Amino acid sequence: MRPYLFLFGRTPKLAFLELTSCIPSASLLSEGVGLAQDSSITEDLASRLGGTVKVAEVIGKIEELSGAGLAKYIDTGDTGKKMVFGVSVYGIDGCDMHTLLVDIKQDIEKSGHTVRYVAPHEGSVLSSVVVAKQHVQELIAVRSENGYIIGKTLAVQEFEEWSKRDYSRPYADPKSGMLPPKVARMLVHAAVGFHGEGMTILDPFCGMGTILGEASLERCRVIGGDQDTHVISKARKNLEWLATVYQNIDISHSVFYAGDATGVSKHIREASVDAIITEPFMGTTKLGGGSITDAVKIRNIMKGLEKLYIGCLREWHKVLKPSGKVMIAFPEYHLNGKIFAVKKVIDMCEKLGYTNLVGPIEYGRPQAIVKREFYLFEKSSKINN
Ligand SMILES: C[S@@+](CC[C@H](N)C(=O)[O-])C[C@H]1O[C@@H](n2cnc3c(N)ncnc32)[C@H](O)[C@@H]1O
Repeated sequence: MRPYLFLFGRTPKLAFLELTSCIPSASLLSEGVGLAQDSSITEDLASRLGGTVKVAEVIGKIEELSGAGLAKYIDTGDTGKKMVFGVSVYGIDGCDMHTLLVDIKQDIEKSGHTVRYVAPHEGSVLSSVVVAKQHVQELIAVRSENGYIIGKTLAVQEFEEWSKRDYSRPYADPKSGMLPPKVARMLVHAAVGFHGEGMTILDPFCGMGTILGEASLERCRVIGGDQDTHVISKARKNLEWLATVYQNIDISHSVFYAGDATGVSKHIREASVDAIITEPFMGTTKLGGGSITDAVKIRNIMKGLEKLYIGCLREWHKVLKPSGKVMIAFPEYHLNGKIFAVKKVIDMCEKLGYTNLVGPIEYGRPQAIVKREFYLFEKSSKINN
């Protein structure tokens, strides 16, 4: 059994959490690259993991990154048939990809084969779209302790499927914010790994139902709540649409209710939920200017949100099973170099009956005013009121 490389997309920290939740023996080889050797690994992982864009098989190791060193790993196939190759290098800055690719090509052509290469648009990594669309035989080189680990790409993420789920669903609500399906999938995996089948997942701030959709695709039973009845009807229709696109999902057990997230026990049986996975209400994002009034406004928003989240965690404890998980995004506002966070909630989490397993994991564009910080809590038996 050879080890596999997992090449992460834009959210490497969350992608690594997802990977280790699904394959606990996985380790971090380099920034953006996971390594795992496990009999459970199959190529279909590339279509299940939200944060991994390529899966490669480790095929060797070299000391120096050179054209001749890499050329021997390229499968040249039949002479006369033009093969397309590419290389992605991880873990070093400023690699001269052009020279490397030309050297590999010349080395291969010495043996009478005709090849063409595809170079990355920028940096040293080929996009999964290019690898798939141009049928590129891709080598992966990852800087490690004494040289480079070489892998061959086996599968790339099904980018068209992810994009269809993001942009073709009947209802969207960009104003209240929607998670990309890939992120929702990472959250589902972070909470339940690959063991989601038959588990009950609740999103009490379900919005358009992105998390519910990804959990359903992982064969979970889902419950969606939102205070807005119109939103609930849209989330339900989005889930029904998903079931027409992916016939292998069963949504017959899914439940929706309209109600406040601090009152979930009115709708859900005690100790019946395996995991709560949610991106809650995050306050307004319409803050401009950066004046002192905005800082005051943010402080007030944070106070309100702390109250809401503490009320939620207190209530959710009732419906969670023992050791049930809460995977949640908390907002972090960035204004003029100052950071405003819901610190009180994190400080109180033990008192509220939770153990903080992971977090914070930051998610958001570097310039964004409101970023998300993901946390994974586990229900503990003790509550200190
Ligand atoms: C950030 S959005 C969730 C978006 C969702 N993750 C998605 O991808 O579509 C937050 C949702 O929480 C709902 N909401 C706000 N306050 C609430 C409360 N106190 N209880 C329940 N739902 C609430 C809003 O109606 C909104 O749909």
